[in-house]
Amino acid sequence: MPMTETLPPPDNSLRAPDVARTLDRLHRRARTDLFRIALVAPFVVPDFLGLRKTDDSRLSKHMRSVYIPVSRSQGQMLYLIARSIEARRIVEFGTSFGISTLYLAAAAKDNGRGVVVGSEIEPSKHAKAEEHLREAGLDGFADVRLGDAMKTLADVEAPIDMVLLDGWKDLYLPILELLKPKLRPRAVVLADNIFTFRKALRPYVAYVQSGANGFVSSTLDISDGFELSVFTG
Ligand SMILES: C[S@@+](CC[C@H](N)C(=O)[O-])C[C@H]1O[C@@H](n2cnc3c(N)ncnc32)[C@H](O)[C@@H]1O
Repeated sequence: MPMTETLPPPDNSLRAPDVARTLDRLHRRARTDLFRIALVAPFVVPDFLGLRKTDDSRLSKHMRSVYIPVSRSQGQMLYLIARSIEARRIVEFGTSFGISTLYLAAAAKDNGRGVVVGSEIEPSKHAKAEEHLREAGLDGFADVRLGDAMKTLADVEAPIDMVLLDGWKDLYLPILELLKPKLRPRAVVLADNIFTFRKALRPYVAYVQSGANGFVSSTLDISDGFELSVFTG
């Protein structure tokens, strides 16, 4: 008599078919980012080179078709760190089309009763991120807020277990300062693109690495530089 196998619920939601399929598709699409950036280069390069003060909403409008996501390795790392510290409230600055949000929402789900609070200033990207979370079946574990993160993340409840900083670079430090009073001891803060925006992010890196502001921190040579900081209070 054939045995009917009852599979246990997956303990890694990144392996759930809807999640894996959605992530595969989005990472594939993001591979052609360079082409889309080239099309808008005249409008965005002065911002990225720090030649003018960035208007986040204007820059995000020009970049509305560009994914610029975390890599798969970074995504896996986000998921595993969130699992290892049992993160239940995760805050993300810069959601874009929701690739990083999917990794974090998967961890929030697997940790039980968790949520990732995302932020996206560009309405079309915000709508797409929500659609992708629904497709992956993770919309119940994410609350992506539309608007300027300095405002939309101001009332996130404490305690915050984990933060991903991945919006435009001038706001990394202000967003960290906004969230810092709500960080729980040993909260983990990750900040992307440290090598690409070395000059713009120098004040941020100095802040978290100085030892004077309640963090231990190192720049990891992953993708284009991933700053990993632990809040020591
Ligand atoms: C590098 S992308 C984020 C990629 C995303 N974390 C991922 O891995 O898929 C940066 C995003 O931050 C958004 N952003 C920039 N400044 C913002 C602000 N002040 N408030 C909210 N979102 C912002 C941009 O519109 C853009 O979509």
